[in-house]
Amino acid sequence: KNQWAYEEPSESMLFILLLFQLASILPLSLFCPSECVCVSDGLASVSADIFQGLVNLTELNLSKNQIAKLDANVFQGMTSLNDLNLSGNLLRKLPQTLFHNLVQLKSLILYSNQLETLENEIPPQLFWHLPSLLTLTLSNNQLQYLPAEKQLMGHMPRLQELYLYNTNLNTVPWNLFANMTGLRALNFHYNEKLSSLPRDLFCCQTNLQKLSLKYNNLQHLHPDQFSQLVSLKILLLNDNVLQSLSSRIFHNLPNLAKLELSHNHLSYLPGDVFEGADSLQSVTLGHNRWDCVCNIMDFVEWIKKNQRVKKNMFHFESFPRIKSIFLIKAFIVFCCIHIFLWGFKIS
Ligand SMILES: *[C@@H]1O[C@H](CO)[C@@H](O)[C@H](O)[C@H]1NC(C)=O
Ligand SMILES: *[C@@H]1O[C@H](CO)[C@@H](O)[C@H](O)[C@H]1NC(C)=O
Ligand SMILES: *[C@@H]1O[C@H](CO)[C@@H](O)[C@H](O)[C@H]1NC(C)=O
Ligand SMILES: *[C@@H]1O[C@H](CO)[C@@H](O)[C@H](O)[C@H]1NC(C)=O
Repeated sequence: KNQWAYEEPSESMLFILLLFQLASILPLSLFCPSECVCVSDGLASVSADIFQGLVNLTELNLSKNQIAKLDANVFQGMTSLNDLNLSGNLLRKLPQTLFHNLVQLKSLILYSNQLETLENEIPPQLFWHLPSLLTLTLSNNQLQYLPAEKQLMGHMPRLQELYLYNTNLNTVPWNLFANMTGLRALNFHYNEKLSSLPRDLFCCQTNLQKLSLKYNNLQHLHPDQFSQLVSLKILLLNDNVLQSLSSRIFHNLPNLAKLELSHNHLSYLPGDVFEGADSLQSVTLGHNRWDCVCNIMDFVEWIKKNQRVKKNMFHFESFPRIKSIFLIKAFIVFCCIHIFLWGFKIS
């Protein structure tokens, strides 16, 4: 049973709202010249020719249905499509050629499906023919791992935003983002099994401004992990299990303004760790395992010299919430004397 609501084009833009509850085989091109919103409580499948003739359609919203399968040719003629929203469905598999004709597509939303990579549910080169794509969202799927040989993404210099959070990834191939040289924002968080990153993962993102790696399980970062990210402004590393950071890890980030390091296992930071990060405006350091050791003194000196940088919640496990630098230094001196005299650390 179908229900159609039609509105005359008001100004230059044509707008049509389509309502349908079951898969339809009517040629939608009769009704749907430019934008198409498919609202349904349980569209379970779409037939291969349902969108036939919609060469001028620019927007298609199929979100929040029960679609579990898509025919390889279902979007074949939709060469004008700009936005495709498939979020909130039950998709497990995608045919390799599904997106091959969508040369105008700017936004592809696939979050909250059941996509897995394990047994070829995500075929190789799936996103190779999307030269106009600006935003790709794959979050809230169970990808688990992405094998290097799949080369999912072809040359994609225009892609600006990639969402890969909550995808259950435990590893990624080093060249996953290599073709996304125009990337501005990478949201790669809430992957609880992700404990390390390949050294060259961010090899080619000289335009990246925001990198979110929060709520992963990162234990270690390579000293050159971020060395190519010369445009980076926001780096979120909070809520991982980082124990230490190399003194040169932020050295090539002249635009870094905001850095989140709270809720890690850091016990110590080298005194020159923020040298070169000249635009730094705020750092969060709370809820770490700051050790009461003499060699943290250099870092405390840096904090003192850089009063302009907002540092919230810098505190020691055993001496929480000291706000004054003077007290922190006094505390460290006390620790050093303690170690010198009695030979053990307080922490
Ligand atoms: C797309 O469709 C869903 C489900 O019907 C609706 O909730 C959402 O607002 C629509 N989005 C847009 C941009 O029209
Ligand atoms: C698509 O748009 C073009 C140009 O506006 C028009 O000539 C053509 O008839 C349209 N095609 C369909 C199938 O509506
Ligand atoms: C896609 O659909 C979801 C769910 O209906 C909606 O919340 C979201 O805003 C849509 N995204 C875009 C870019 O239209
Ligand atoms: C990047 O894109 C080019 C051209 O589309 C392709 O040959 C290459 O294999 C891609 N690399 C990766 C790592 O996907």
